Amino acid sequence: MRARVAAAAFLVAVIAIAAPARAQQAHPGLQVWKSAGCPECHGVLGQGGDDGDHPKGPNLHRIYQDRAFLIETVSCGRPTTPMPAFLDVAYTRRICNGYLSPNGVPPEINRLALLTADEVALVVQYVLDRVMGMGEISRSECAAYFGDADHPVCAGAR
Ligand code: HEC
Repeated sequence: MRARVAAAAFLVAVIAIAAPARAQQAHPGLQVWKSAGCPECHGVLGQGGDDGDHPKGPNLHRIYQDRAFLIETVSCGRPTTPMPAFLDVAYTRRICNGYLSPNGVPPEINRLALLTADEVALVVQYVLDRVMGMGEISRSECAAYFGDADHPVCAGAR
């Protein structure tokens, strides 16, 4: 009995030590995903916005787009929709949706956080690696996102 308790305590200690290490292995684009505000519209895991406080963004698990397309969308946004142009030099110094607007981003384009080209590339890589084409979110993906398998959002994941 003693030995079993000791073994269990040892295991808990090992898990406690290992957990932060695993959380640090989060995808390099995850931080940009969070700080740029993508979850506000697309849901924390890219499952699509359903929170009435935020404009709805589509479910990104069910899209199949290539890297160049994603870079264009995230950099330049989608005119007349809530999808923002995130690239700092979008339209002013980078041709977007086929045109330049040197005096400023055109009014039909939503702006939110501004990202460098490197940050856009990182968040697009995150979408490619961890969001796009995934059916349901697995429990381990959910745990990796929050760094906590017991996070309430993960309860429904398998
Ligand atoms: C303010 C709300 C909002 C935010 C913030 C937002 N999006 Fe969107 N996003 C949308 C909407 C709305 C659409 C659909 C646009 C349309 O109808 O064409 C969209 C479309 C997209 C698409 C294209 C999907 C497709 O079917 O082709 C991608 C990819 C995408 N968003 C990624 C992102 C990423 C990555 C971020 C963060 C850097 C982000 N979005 C932030 C609202 C948002």
